[in-house]
Amino acid sequence: MKVFRKVLLSLVCGATLCSCTAPAQQESKADEDKNAVIETIMTRRSVRKYQPQAVNRDTMQIILECGINAPNAINKQAWEVRVVDNPEFINGITEIFKKVNPKMAEAPDFKNMFRNAPTVVFIANDTTFPFSQVDCGLMAENMMLSAWSMGIGSVCLGSSAHFINDTPEAAPYLEKLGFSENYKTLVCIGFGYPAETPAAKPRDKGKVKFVD
Ligand SMILES: Cc1cc2nc3c(=O)[nH]c(=O)nc-3n(C[C@H](O)[C@H](O)[C@H](O)COP(=O)(O)O)c2cc1C
Repeated sequence: MKVFRKVLLSLVCGATLCSCTAPAQQESKADEDKNAVIETIMTRRSVRKYQPQAVNRDTMQIILECGINAPNAINKQAWEVRVVDNPEFINGITEIFKKVNPKMAEAPDFKNMFRNAPTVVFIANDTTFPFSQVDCGLMAENMMLSAWSMGIGSVCLGSSAHFINDTPEAAPYLEKLGFSENYKTLVCIGFGYPAETPAAKPRDKGKVKFVD
């Protein structure tokens, strides 16, 4: 893990140094085939089938640290994060989910309500701070991309956040997460070692335009 951290740090430092290089050099770095960041972004996909074991906690620490290093408005860090890899928690709330959504649980590959992920990160935003949802979204993406750069799959889950917030029977689980007053679960992110390689979904390039 320490070796990996050293590699990660040297990559980060390398990237910092790159930002000081001449523009022409920076442009050549943007070549998709050679640039690790671009490759990670372009190959990440939402994963919904996982191997059963939880993500190694040392690896999760790196992912979480990448999360809290996301840009965020006035550095208020208007987020709270909880990590759950305890099967009792995940299976327990899934039993409640099954009762409320029996059809969804009938899917042949269904393992749990977090799209089968064995490790779940709950991100809550400070509902009193206007930019907190943006901050949490940026944090979530940092986590998912750093995870994928290490071969860890992920899926962002709005439905699971709604479920834990709004299902009375799930209240003991929400309480266990222990978010502070005024914080509300915004998204869950499932993480795990992938057991599928989904194809990219199409993107509409027409939504993006240069304005002269
Ligand atoms: C805010 C947000 C909420 C999402 N909620 C769910 C969800 O409840 N269930 C799910 O299976 N996927 C969910 N997704 C994943 C999207 O379906 C997925 O990112 C999108 O279809 C694009 O596919 P890709 O991630 O493979 O590129 C969510 C993604 C985001 C950003």
